[in-house]
Amino acid sequence: MKKRILSGMRPTGPLHIGHLVGALNNWIKLQDEYECFFMVADWHALMSEYEKPASLKENILSNVADWLACGISPRNSTVFIQSHVKEHLELYMLFSFITPLGWLERCPTYKEQLREVKNRDLSTYAFLGYPVLQAADILLYKAEAVPVGEDQLPHLELAREIGRRFNSLYKIGVFPEAQALLTKSSRILGLDGRKMSKSYDNFIAISEKPEDIRRKIQGMFTDPLRVKLTDPGHPDKCNVHSYYALFAPERKKEIDELCRNAKVGCTSCKRELAEILVKFLEPIQEKRQELLKDKKGLLEMLGQGSEKASAVARKTVNEAKEVLNLM
Ligand code: TRP
Ligand code: SF4
Repeated sequence: MKKRILSGMRPTGPLHIGHLVGALNNWIKLQDEYECFFMVADWHALMSEYEKPASLKENILSNVADWLACGISPRNSTVFIQSHVKEHLELYMLFSFITPLGWLERCPTYKEQLREVKNRDLSTYAFLGYPVLQAADILLYKAEAVPVGEDQLPHLELAREIGRRFNSLYKIGVFPEAQALLTKSSRILGLDGRKMSKSYDNFIAISEKPEDIRRKIQGMFTDPLRVKLTDPGHPDKCNVHSYYALFAPERKKEIDELCRNAKVGCTSCKRELAEILVKFLEPIQEKRQELLKDKKGLLEMLGQGSEKASAVARKTVNEAKEVLNLM
């Protein structure tokens, strides 16, 4: 029996190459070894984006198309939309009985977001309960592991605590403890050297048009110490070079040499990288277009996904209801 994992992404915008190398590639690799549930966390998206839901539907389908085009296989994995599996809401409700307010108020991601996010009002009832819904996501499937980035560790810890509290309150072992499967995969910085993020507008989308890839790459910051073409470069201090490492590892060493000996200029170095990325993304984008042309097919696949997910989730909810003496 394969171990089960669950993970999710919030459909808050287009997926970019940071998502690809940071999370998606890892999901794709895990598909053989684990029984995988991959979820579009649309309710979680609304917890912060409720004021502007306009592009939610579009983002959901676009993200799913990106997943599949990159290599998530709905034949191996269960791909579904959170809000299509109503059991998430039910377990979230049951967990809300037993989750002490203090646990949520003390959650570091909650405190940080309240402090940092200025353009949205996150002082809502739902946003405080964000980790409770995430705990329901994970425990509904009794997932043994959850592939996430480090930023999600506090949520995973809360999920374990909520499960433990349920088990100990009712002296019954319903919920196993889910371990983090920390993404070992690479991190890619944004075009400006900060974290790649939609909100910084420093990303290259998986669906980015070739001309935009070229323009964006040409605008990247390079080695700040290299002013003239004749100055030797420091590839280790250059973000462009780290993109080579990820997308053209076989060319990385040569670029390294050429750069250190001032035998390649930054403009042509970036021009070459842009073409590498265009080529890399081309088959993915073709597949993505094909998938999006057949919306009916995508929705059918998602329908099957939510049925498979529901079948598992229903059992867990029934167990929990039984424990709480609900009828
Ligand atoms: N909170 C996660 C994020 O922002 C998304 C998410 C929702 C998730 N439910 C999940 C991740 C369950 C792992 C497991 O990235
Ligand atoms: Fe960076 Fe390439 Fe310029 Fe070297 S030549 S500094 S690796 S962009």
